[in-house]
Amino acid sequence: MDKIESQCGTIQLCQDRQELASALADRFVEVVGAAVGRSGKANVALSGGSTPKALYSLLAEPAYSQKIAWNKVHLYWGDERCVSHDSPESNYKMVLDSLLSKVPIPESCVHATNGQDTDPVGAARAYEEVLKREFQLSDGNLPHFDLVLLGLGPDGHTASLFPGTEALKETGRLVVANYVEKFKSSRITFTLPVLNAAANVTFMVAGADKQEILPLVLRAEPKDYPAQLIRPTEGMLTWYVDSLAAARIDRRTLAARP
Ligand code: 6PG
Repeated sequence: MDKIESQCGTIQLCQDRQELASALADRFVEVVGAAVGRSGKANVALSGGSTPKALYSLLAEPAYSQKIAWNKVHLYWGDERCVSHDSPESNYKMVLDSLLSKVPIPESCVHATNGQDTDPVGAARAYEEVLKREFQLSDGNLPHFDLVLLGLGPDGHTASLFPGTEALKETGRLVVANYVEKFKSSRITFTLPVLNAAANVTFMVAGADKQEILPLVLRAEPKDYPAQLIRPTEGMLTWYVDSLAAARIDRRTLAARP
């Protein structure tokens, strides 16, 4: 696996989706293990979409699952579609099928959104209260996740922060309902302050359909896409990309200037 240190974080160049999933599973074990060792628990925000399925399935394999203290790992969703948990569109269902149903994680460690299919605004507020409770936050404070997993859409969105949507401007809330015109529906999403407060933020980008957008979001300027607004305040930003998605990136322009 090749690596580029860029102005937009570390780029881990993986050969294919399998190597990408393995690299991320190793990072998951490392970050979660260190957090549990340090504070007795690890807080992880999961990504939705299709790319992370291979990662979640791999984490459910004994070779990885047995290295993780599941009763000390608290899982959250960085975003969710406004559907019921049994919908094929649900990010919760995707994680349930690929991971939660296969590992000994207590229900008390699984913090999913609820009610988003009938009341997105109410569900966002309720999820915000879950974060405040679980992170023991007083008003104005941010949760500091040990690890945030993110994907990248071909339009440069991440989580459910889509270009031109209201949630991109939100700086006071932790979780909001975000109406997405192209889907004619809302989604629930963590806001940029929450995502940027994490200790480790990792993007998972794979497939030829990301060839065009990846070099654009790896530019420092101009910031035309939501994914470019992910700049952890103090944490580490790492991009795990496969060779198909990375086909058009130019290593020379990316390398961080001294
Ligand atoms: C979602 C995700 C979204 C996703 C990107 C990439 O709910 O769909 O949170 O941000 O990560 O759309 O999706 P793929 O991994 O399917 O390409």
